[in-house]
Amino acid sequence: MSQNIQSVRGMNDILPGESELWELFEETIRSWLKSYGYKPIRLPIVEPTPLFKRAIGEVTDIVEKEMYSFEDSLNGEQLTLRPEGTAGCVRAVIQHNLAAQRPQRLYYMGQMFRHERPQKGRYRQFNQVGVESFGFSGPDIDAEQILMGARLWDDLGLDSIKLQLNSLGQLEERAKYRAELVTYFEKYATLLDEDAKRRLYSNPLRILDSKNSAMQEMIAGAPQLMGHLGAESMAHFEGVQQVLRDVGLPYEINPRLVRGLDYYNLTVFEWVTDRLGAQGTVCAGGRYDGLVEQLGGKPTPACGFAMGVERLVTLIRESGGDPEPEGTDVYLVHQGEAASRMAPRIAEGLRDQGINVLYNCGGGSFKSQMKKADASGALFAVIIGDDEASAGEVTLKPLRAEGTERNEQKRISVDQVADEIMNAFFDGDDA
Ligand code: HAM
Repeated sequence: MSQNIQSVRGMNDILPGESELWELFEETIRSWLKSYGYKPIRLPIVEPTPLFKRAIGEVTDIVEKEMYSFEDSLNGEQLTLRPEGTAGCVRAVIQHNLAAQRPQRLYYMGQMFRHERPQKGRYRQFNQVGVESFGFSGPDIDAEQILMGARLWDDLGLDSIKLQLNSLGQLEERAKYRAELVTYFEKYATLLDEDAKRRLYSNPLRILDSKNSAMQEMIAGAPQLMGHLGAESMAHFEGVQQVLRDVGLPYEINPRLVRGLDYYNLTVFEWVTDRLGAQGTVCAGGRYDGLVEQLGGKPTPACGFAMGVERLVTLIRESGGDPEPEGTDVYLVHQGEAASRMAPRIAEGLRDQGINVLYNCGGGSFKSQMKKADASGALFAVIIGDDEASAGEVTLKPLRAEGTERNEQKRISVDQVADEIMNAFFDGDDA
């Protein structure tokens, strides 16, 4: 016997029952983005592998071990399923010269792919909503993007998400700091785990981010980047904080926040919750002023962030924000030859009026169709038998509200059905 084929590990189906919450989330997201003037950009899921290597950095977890890369068997091109959206977005901005005329505020949503070990909140295919701005160099846009996050959590009814903030300064400032950090870690070489040893000379800042409890004390004593920032970097950081203080948004400065992608400078931030276990970062980002130039474009300041949709949807569900399952407006019951020929026209006529119709497919007795109508959650059954069909009428039966006159089932002419149903909706609204 052949075995059933299952989905790839870490890549999940989102089924009805859960997908409604995703749609609600996406609706909230779209109006939220609109309220800040962000425009949608739709990007390919597959990009040339060198794009990610150059943008994210050769010595990062993502590039070293998490990318789904393959060779195009037709032309030998090296391709990768996007592990994140910033690189592709920057590529598109350069390719179409988008930021040449005026600054841009862009957003994308969609699947990303990382070959990580799956666990709660960590998947191999996951969804991000990402926001990127190009052409703004001041701290005002960093602050606005942070405020956007705060507003979204509020819109979604989430109150457990806290802001962590840091500044990574500029490349030259980091270079000096990095040398000092390496000297410090060398002093404690015996305490470094395998990962840290591997990163000591290639990406020592990432050691600060280690979760290894045996290294925490040593990491706590390490020199801090903040002490190496020049006046301009400090002023930028202060500018961001000033706005946050002015609007009263609480934040915590986390000097160990270094991010797992290499393109950042100055402001970096993460939104974190303690309600999701180990994978508590729901949204993260920062400034990446050097990336456009590094990928071949004209120097263009940039700033952005991305949120993990699975993590946010889980949070919404766990905080009781699941939408009520919604039924349809009308279930259309029909039996007999003449009735079944009339029924599709009636269903289409109702849909013309904006009424949602679940049409009984697959036949069945009146009794079994009425059972399905009840189970569908519909507000009305529109019933057509041959009797009704020959009179040009239907029977309209309310299925929900009970105990009022309106609930009597009645025969009405075909032309009246839509009006009757619409009136009942409006009456219902008044009640
Ligand atoms: P990131 O921190 O790698 O940043 O990912 C952003 C968010 O995506 C994370 O905070 C998390 O919520 C979610 N996420 C990441 N990996 C997974 C996974 N395996 N399973 C589920 N969710 C995940 C970026 O991707 C940057 N491109 C953000 C950015 C945009 N920076 C500037 N602009």
